[in-house]
Amino acid sequence: MKSVVCTAIGKPVEIQTSTDPTPGPADVLVHVTACGLNYVDALMCTGGYQIKPELPFTPGSELAGTVAAIGEDVDDLKSGDRVLTRGGFVSVVVRPRSSIYPIPNTLTEGQAATLWQSYSTMLYAYTRADLSDGETVLVLGASGGIGKAAIDLAHSRGARVIAAASSDDRLRTCGEVFGRINYDVEDVKVRARELTEGKGVDVVVDPVGGDRADAALRSLDNLGRYLVIGFAAGSIPRLPINQILLRNRNVLGIDWGAWSGSHSDDQETNLRTLLNMAERGSIAPPEPRTYSFEEAQTALDDLMNRRVIGKAVLKP
Ligand SMILES: NC(=O)c1ccc[n+]([C@@H]2O[C@H](COP(=O)([O-])OP(=O)(O)OC[C@H]3O[C@@H](n4cnc5c(N)ncnc54)[C@H](OP(=O)(O)O)[C@@H]3O)[C@@H](O)[C@H]2O)c1
Repeated sequence: MKSVVCTAIGKPVEIQTSTDPTPGPADVLVHVTACGLNYVDALMCTGGYQIKPELPFTPGSELAGTVAAIGEDVDDLKSGDRVLTRGGFVSVVVRPRSSIYPIPNTLTEGQAATLWQSYSTMLYAYTRADLSDGETVLVLGASGGIGKAAIDLAHSRGARVIAAASSDDRLRTCGEVFGRINYDVEDVKVRARELTEGKGVDVVVDPVGGDRADAALRSLDNLGRYLVIGFAAGSIPRLPINQILLRNRNVLGIDWGAWSGSHSDDQETNLRTLLNMAERGSIAPPEPRTYSFEEAQTALDDLMNRRVIGKAVLKP
């Protein structure tokens, strides 16, 4: 099997080969066809993430592929079945049957390999925010992985979306939305208020941070909810607390990684909900851009430098 390995912080990742693992009685051996890339994978390889794995490590956390072998106790999967599971950038993986999920026919393996983190984060976030039918959501970084999941899941709840991003080209990739804001040239608060006839938005989704946050907070209506998801821009905004008091606004910290670690049954329910929604066609994750394992460092660099729109996968 092949693995993408980070051997030293700041050095390019490398490909290492080892013997294929063997499944135990309750396990499934999967031939991986797509490894989902997340911003956090790139951050870990540059030492910029709060969790610093011991070196060497294999980055990555979500995979899709086909069943190649099953243990003797597994009776509900067969060779060739398409599945998704957790795991780093590897070409072959063994997982317990309980951690393997069949991929609905409506999803490609690329879509399935990139759904777990982004969509689970936004499902958890919208549950916390109690996002409801008819509300308006302002999504910053709307063409990114979190942004696209935020748009898709908001629509599935009957909410309308204002997509905000740093260029018209990026905004064009966001599909049918209620409104668009190019925040490199437009004032987010002014435009959000114009689009909502002066009211403001009900929910802000912020995976970007930096200097966009202040205007986004000020664009919230009464009882609006500001979802702090991440800081892709690199700097952590300092929000004016008076703007939270005004209009009875709320700021909600979303740490899906910590929550899912301590609520694994709830996260499992959420993942099954997402797969059911995909099967019914009520969500449609974006088709990711594909890189080979040999291009892994390029892919990580592209992710860190805004050169990926939507999601990306590594193909072993
Ligand atoms: N809280 C959680 O549980 C959780 C879960 C998953 C991810 N996250 C975090 O959420 C953030 C976004 O993740 P993502 O998967 O959406 O990433 P992504 O696909 O790379 O998108 C990030 C977006 O941020 C914007 N951006 C602004 N400045 C940037 C910069 N200097 N470098 C890169 N992007 C920049 C870009 O849009 P524009 O160019 O349009 O501004 C880009 O589309 C990351 O910080 C990630 O760690 C948090």
